[in-house]
Amino acid sequence: MNLSVNYAGVTFKNPITVASGTFGSGVEYSDFVDLNRLGAVTTKGVADHPWEGNPTPRIAETYGGMLNAVGLQNPGIDVFVERDIPFLKQYDTGIIVNVCGHSEEEYVNVVERLNDVDVDMLEINVSCPNVKEGGIAFGTDPKQLNHVTKLVKSHSNKPVVMKLSPNVTDIAEMARAAEDGGADGISLINTLTGMKIDVDRRKFVLANQTGGLSGPAIHPVAVRMVYQASHAVKIPVIGMGGVMNAYDALELILAGATMVSVGTANFINPNATIDIINGIEEYMKKNGVDDINDLIGAVE
Ligand SMILES: Cc1cc2nc3c(=O)[nH]c(=O)nc-3n(C[C@H](O)[C@H](O)[C@H](O)COP(=O)(O)O)c2cc1C
Repeated sequence: MNLSVNYAGVTFKNPITVASGTFGSGVEYSDFVDLNRLGAVTTKGVADHPWEGNPTPRIAETYGGMLNAVGLQNPGIDVFVERDIPFLKQYDTGIIVNVCGHSEEEYVNVVERLNDVDVDMLEINVSCPNVKEGGIAFGTDPKQLNHVTKLVKSHSNKPVVMKLSPNVTDIAEMARAAEDGGADGISLINTLTGMKIDVDRRKFVLANQTGGLSGPAIHPVAVRMVYQASHAVKIPVIGMGGVMNAYDALELILAGATMVSVGTANFINPNATIDIINGIEEYMKKNGVDDINDLIGAVE
């Protein structure tokens, strides 16, 4: 039985990775999860200098999900390269580095710094709803997305995956803008912008007022968008959004995803990724599927 996939020229032992920002750089989870079993670890977004993130409270539970406005708190690329990469290198797993920035220059600084670092792929976050500059501004306008993609590609020697926002009218257009800019792949979906109000206090629950909605509540939106985006382009897709179990992951694969990221589920069940990999194996055995690649985009 084959679970390995080729994504943008890189072979991963299975299609399961973690969604950026929900797994740190793996350190916090390594007591619970055998990182050697994951197809890849996708790291928390890293910028060219340390970011403090947004004021608290910045997390709230919602029906079937959560809102977060963490604001891409991170220690900056220098600490990341010296501390987090050597940690991950101890394991037999792929490394996908998620990159964030406030400006074109900041994105370029990070990707250039990573040119000499041995990681498999970059995922460029142009879709965070919680930072005021950069982030989502690049991810909701196809022209800007196309431009940033070209820029990052011209400064990087690694495969580049553009992470798309669901906060758009036409996801197929965004997928094509990334492909046309030279992206090696696309990943989606990032969080959907939401808001929660404390009725008793008549105040916003999050200090940032708005936050990104994630978890099972957004899963059907993710399935629809992964289907539409993967049919609009030839480059491979990493699907994510509310994946809680193997069936949710398989749904995204059948919709057209080559790989799947697991995010919010890690907060509920730290072992979610392993349960999902085991569940995919069981499904394949039960249904006589020898190669996971036969399931990619196989919905009829
Ligand atoms: C607390 C939290 C932090 C996140 N941080 C990042 C981040 O740093 N970079 C990024 O591209 N996406 C980030 N995301 C978005 C996730 O990677 C993912 O796209 C989204 O949560 C949908 O997947 P899920 O429903 O499985 O969580 C974050 C999500 C959460 C909940």
